[in-house]
Amino acid sequence: MEHFNSTPLQIDLRRHLRENDEDRDLTRLICEIADASKYIINAIRTGDLGMAGTSNLYGEKQLALDVLSDRIIIKRLRHSGVVANLVSEESDEVVSIDPDNEDKFSVAFDPLDGSSLVDVNMAVGTIVSIYKGGNLLQPGRNQVAAMYILYGPRTTLVYSTGKGVHEFGMNSLMEYTLNYQNIRMTGPARIYSPGGLRSKYTPGTERFARTLEENGTKLRYSGGFVPDINQLLIKRGGVFMYPHLTDAPSGKLRLLYELNPMAFLVEQAGGAASDGRRRILDIEPDSVDLRAPVFIGTPAAVALAEQCIREEEG
Ligand code: F6P
Ligand code: MN
Repeated sequence: MEHFNSTPLQIDLRRHLRENDEDRDLTRLICEIADASKYIINAIRTGDLGMAGTSNLYGEKQLALDVLSDRIIIKRLRHSGVVANLVSEESDEVVSIDPDNEDKFSVAFDPLDGSSLVDVNMAVGTIVSIYKGGNLLQPGRNQVAAMYILYGPRTTLVYSTGKGVHEFGMNSLMEYTLNYQNIRMTGPARIYSPGGLRSKYTPGTERFARTLEENGTKLRYSGGFVPDINQLLIKRGGVFMYPHLTDAPSGKLRLLYELNPMAFLVEQAGGAASDGRRRILDIEPDSVDLRAPVFIGTPAAVALAEQCIREEEG
């Protein structure tokens, strides 16, 4: 993993994409999302913390910030000229812009993941999944790119177009410049981030968690999916889970908006992502709101989770 922070040479996002020889329209799309994130940061820093008075299709109450972030991205992408279809975790229908144009891209996104952490001033993020053509209901392995933006003490952007994973930091001019290139998460799993209520874990997940603890793996859970995954990538290893629970067999996290893009990024860094039985990126979605359990991070830890779950099932 190459580190660029201390070099005087600043490689910005657009130049990085150009030097990676990316498709011009995909470059445009990624840069539009990066630009939209500047308005989202501003909304987080200074915006209304109140409720919007509406709910998303999962029945979760929306904050004014969720709705605003959603609008910022939709507006930007609608006018980008490179998008076929859009779907957001915050709205219940696909926005069709040029729906049958196979040369354009379709985008599934979570505009402000973890937004309930904003009032306690913890980190949140935007997660984006990109497919070529008009079809949004494809297995995640068909993604042509995935990215997230993490709004923490610093703002960082991580992307992959299938040629490694790269992290950029926002500088004082609000430009994203390269911090790390070709991030690899091949170190041992020294940290773990367990989502969901422990008393609702099934025996296999409970045994997995106990084995990690007995092996000295430390708890590091923020409650925000983006910072929790970013931690695994930048610390080069570890495991995050939001498992199937006794009262929620599909867990909590959503395949299109959360799991597929993160699984794509983590696999690109040499990690693995499973629902306990199969690779996340091989799940065939039949609806945009599908949820799935997830065990994601260092391959050995994900394999151990699968083993514990297989044995639980007998
Ligand atoms: O949108 C889902 C989310 O907020 C993620 O950011 C996070 O990983 C998860 O939910 C936290 O869920 P819980 O509050 O059940 O720990
Ligand atoms: Mn979310």
